[in-house]
Parts: sequence; C-alpha cells; structure tokens
Amino acid sequence: MPKPSVLFVCLGNICRSPLAEAAFREEAKRIGLDIEIDSAGTGGWHAGEPPDHRAIATARKHGIDISSYRARKVTVGDFRRFTHIIGLDFENLADLQRLHPHDGTADLSLLLDHVPERAGEAVSDPWYGDMSDFDVTWNDVTAGAKALAAELALL
Ligand code: 4NP
Repeated sequence: MPKPSVLFVCLGNICRSPLAEAAFREEAKRIGLDIEIDSAGTGGWHAGEPPDHRAIATARKHGIDISSYRARKVTVGDFRRFTHIIGLDFENLADLQRLHPHDGTADLSLLLDHVPERAGEAVSDPWYGDMSDFDVTWNDVTAGAKALAAELALL
C-alpha cells in the first residue's frame, strides 16, 4: 500500500479546490497526518494564477494564507502520482473518469462521498455567488477534509 497522497480537483483551481486543499492541509497538520497534498483544475484557463480574491479572503478569515497557491491543470501523470484524486462536483468527477489513463492507479471520488450523510453530494460552485456562497463552500470543504483525513489516517 503506497503512502496516501491527495489531489483536489475543481474546474478552475482558483475557488473550490484551493479551499479544499487549505482545509485538508490544516486538518492533516492537526491530526499529525504526513501526506502529499495538492490541487488542480480540469480546465487550464487560470493556470499560473493565485486563487480568486474571494477564496483568499475566505481562507484568511480562518487564519490560513493561500495567496501563494498557483493554479494548474490536472495532468495524466497525476493519476499515477496521487493515490486519491478528489473531485469537488459531478462534472469534475466525470471529467476525471474520462481522463483516467489505463495505467492510472488513483482512486477517484467526490469530496463529500467521504462524509457519510452527504455521500453523492457536490460542493457548490461559488464562482457566480458572493462571500456568503464562499462561506458555504468553506463549510463543505471543511466537512469533507475532516472526514477524508480521518479515513486516510486509518490506512
Ligand atoms: P473553481 O471555480 O472551479 O471552484 O475554481 C471556477 C473558476 C473559474 C471559472 C468557473 C469556476 N470560470 O468560468 O472561469
């Protein structure tokens, strides 16, 4: 069993997946889980850019600085490099399933699949919303991050 490693994936890698990465880094640190963590987007339009300013502000409210994160597009190599690739919504998961190469070894799932009472739910996309929508996203990714970290700590 390889050491677990986790990649969070949304569309642009500037709103939801950086927040999931931040929440998971925080939770992994809190429980002493030493693990490789990253995030990426299925689209490359924002590659090289920092997270959306609203995502940066949301993380900052919780004492986390994500301003140095940079967006990147998911690669075929990610399916061998990471043991777990976590889609934030249904479209992200469907895109990941389509991109998964034959020799890929990553386990694909939705983030909220790891929260028993929320399995099969998507993390809502705050892109067209306001700061309160980013708060909802933060609550969702925090619930997912806690559950996923607890699960991986048992491997
Ligand atoms: P994310 O949000 O996938 O959570 O990073 C979005 C970012 C950019 C766009 C849509 C969603 N966009 O249309 O450019």
